[in-house]
Amino acid sequence: MDEILKKALEIYNSEDADFISQIYFEHINPNLTKLIKLAGYAKLESRTKGEKVFTKNNGQEEEYLDCLGLYGAVLLGHNNEFIVSKVKEQMEKQCMPTKVFLSSIHAAAAYLLTQLSGLDYVFFCNSGAEAVEGAIKLAIASTERKKIISTFNSYHGKTLGALSVSGRDVYKKGIPQLLDVVFVEYGDYEAVERVIDDETAAVIVEPIQGEGGIIIPPDDYLPKLRALCDRFETLLIVDEVQTGMGRTGIIFEHQKYGIKPDILVLAKALGGGVFPVGAIVGNKKAWKAFDINPLFHTSTFGANPASLTAVFYTIQFIFNNGVLEEVKNKGQYFLEKLKNLKDGKVVKDVRGRGLMIGIELTDEQFAASIFSYLIQNKIITAYTLNQPKVIRIEPPYTISYEQIDLVVEKLGHAISETIELFELA
Ligand SMILES: Cc1ncc(COP(=O)(O)O)c(C=O)c1O
Repeated sequence: MDEILKKALEIYNSEDADFISQIYFEHINPNLTKLIKLAGYAKLESRTKGEKVFTKNNGQEEEYLDCLGLYGAVLLGHNNEFIVSKVKEQMEKQCMPTKVFLSSIHAAAAYLLTQLSGLDYVFFCNSGAEAVEGAIKLAIASTERKKIISTFNSYHGKTLGALSVSGRDVYKKGIPQLLDVVFVEYGDYEAVERVIDDETAAVIVEPIQGEGGIIIPPDDYLPKLRALCDRFETLLIVDEVQTGMGRTGIIFEHQKYGIKPDILVLAKALGGGVFPVGAIVGNKKAWKAFDINPLFHTSTFGANPASLTAVFYTIQFIFNNGVLEEVKNKGQYFLEKLKNLKDGKVVKDVRGRGLMIGIELTDEQFAASIFSYLIQNKIITAYTLNQPKVIRIEPPYTISYEQIDLVVEKLGHAISETIELFELA
């Protein structure tokens, strides 16, 4: 065992990216390691601050500008000092709950989310997929119905239940469909109207399809779904794992349409980019299953004090620092600038809300040359999981206007290079 512990320490202290790549290859995921290398990401992350990510290889430090924000989760800047200090304070007092006594931080975090959403109850868990699982389970049990309506191209997570309501087959290969789910086109209200019936427990929908390629639905989509669900006494589940907590310039994207879901699903930015946490927020109808059995749904680590402190101070930070206004203004500025890159040759469309922007390429094959140029120029981005043709721009809100200009400039160069490379001129 001594040798093993010694080698583990050597790995832990290593600043050699090739050595760590080899460990990834041998002990984490061989093909993923190859992909990371191919994409030019085989560097060692050493620290993060605001919108900056630093890597270190054998003493050499490099600085990157993060336009990915952990797939939308880091909105308030990496290592947000205020939230980190509050979580540290809490962790020195108590890391884990007993789950037998009451907790004031649990109560305060739940209170804040109910006041922000206009809903009644909150169940805290640890991730987006876990929150989706719980939401579906609640809907099925509380309505005593089984059918779920979801949308093609949606992304709700990769655990078995969340995957069953996700609308992309590539992640479901070889996995049985566990739930009774009917998929319809996103943004098409009539398609939902055609399949909804008295057996439908819930309609689950993202207010903007994030991993689907930053797809914004028609303005009347959510209001019409709300009315339709009311007519059939079906629960409307709005998945705001990616859009929620200010990413789009409003605390919850669905509130732009003046509607209230029966269940709201949150994660990602909910923990301020400091702690992993998810939440299911619901009304009395949705919580019926808990009336029958208070232990209907539980989680050992869910609602731990550290994550709830992160939730509590994330909300305080957002509203005490004008974050929503800044996200809106910077997002608008970014979007307008990016729209100038739309040339029909390489860039087909640019769309988004707040700091959740998608750049749709005319062809998937252009993505590699654009990503390669950007990473060489120290800008981190990625494509949306269900739609590799769409480059996502989801930086922390701490990004400056100068940095936005720089990203647009570099993207412009990347597009020119792509035009040259593919002889599109
Ligand atoms: C809308 C939506 N729902 C659910 C999830 C799953 O969240 P997690 O990765 O935390 O399980 C994601 C992740 O990207 C998401 O975008």
